[in-house]
Amino acid sequence: MSNPGSLRAVSTSAIIVAAGQGQRFGGETPKQFALLGGKPVLVWTLRQFETCPEIDEVVIVVHQDWLQQVKADILAHEQFQKVSRVVPGGVERQDSVSAGLSSLSASVEYVAVHDAARPCVRAEAISRVVLAGRAYGAATLAVAINDTVKRVREQVVCETLDRSSLWAVQTPQVFKYDLLIQAYRAASKDHVYLTDDSALVERLDYPVRIVEGDSDNFKLTVPGDIKRAESILIPG
Ligand code: CTP
Ligand code: MG
Repeated sequence: MSNPGSLRAVSTSAIIVAAGQGQRFGGETPKQFALLGGKPVLVWTLRQFETCPEIDEVVIVVHQDWLQQVKADILAHEQFQKVSRVVPGGVERQDSVSAGLSSLSASVEYVAVHDAARPCVRAEAISRVVLAGRAYGAATLAVAINDTVKRVREQVVCETLDRSSLWAVQTPQVFKYDLLIQAYRAASKDHVYLTDDSALVERLDYPVRIVEGDSDNFKLTVPGDIKRAESILIPG
C-alpha cells in the first residue's frame, strides 16, 4: 500500500465495495474473494483500476472480519501502488459506499464507485466513464437491453416496455465528489435505501450520463458466473 499520508494531489478516487456476503453465490467464501484462475476475484478487479490512468487512488471496503485477511493475504502479495486504505463496510451496499466516501480526503474531486464483484471491467471502460463523470458531473456504464422487457403482476403481463429506452446499468459510476456527498447526506436524512449510487443522485434531479459499456462487465452473482468470468479473462 502507498503511504496514506502522501501529499500527492488526488483528483479521482475509486471506492471498490467488497463488503457483501454473497448470499446468492453461496459457499464458504464471499464471491469477491472466490478464486478465479487461481487469484481472488478482488485482485482481478483491482488490477484494472491500478492500470487505468484516470484513477489516482483506490479505497477498498470490506467486511470487518476480512480487514486483516485482505491486507495480509491479498495486498501483501500484489503490488498495488494506488490502494491507499482498506475500510470496514456496513450492512447494506449503500452503507459500505458511505464508509468508503467518509474515508476520502475532501480534496478529492471525482469518485468512481465500483462493485468488487465485477472483475471483468476493462481499464479502458473505466477511463471512458471517468472522463464522462468529469465532463458531466455524473456518469455510469450501462448496456442497452436486448430482450423485450414486460411488466408483470401475479404472473400476467400488464405492459410491454419500450426497449429502446431501457438500459441495464453497471459500475463504475462516477460522480463529482461534492454531488455524491450531497446525495448520500440527502438519502441518510430521508432514510432512503436504493440499489445504486446513480439512483441517489437522480433523487436530486441531477442528470446522470449513460456511457455505453459491454456485457462482459457483468456482476458475479451465482457460482456458475466464475466459469463465465474465466472464459472472458483467461481466453483459450
Ligand atoms: N456490497 C458491499 N456491502 C454490502 C453489500 C454489498 O460492499 N453490505 C458489495 C458486494 O461485495 C458487491 C457489490 O456491493 O461487490 C454488489 O452487491 P451484490 O452483488 O448484491 O453482492 P452481495 O450483497 O454480496 O450478494 P447477495 O446480494 O447475493 O448477498
Ligand atoms: Mg446484495
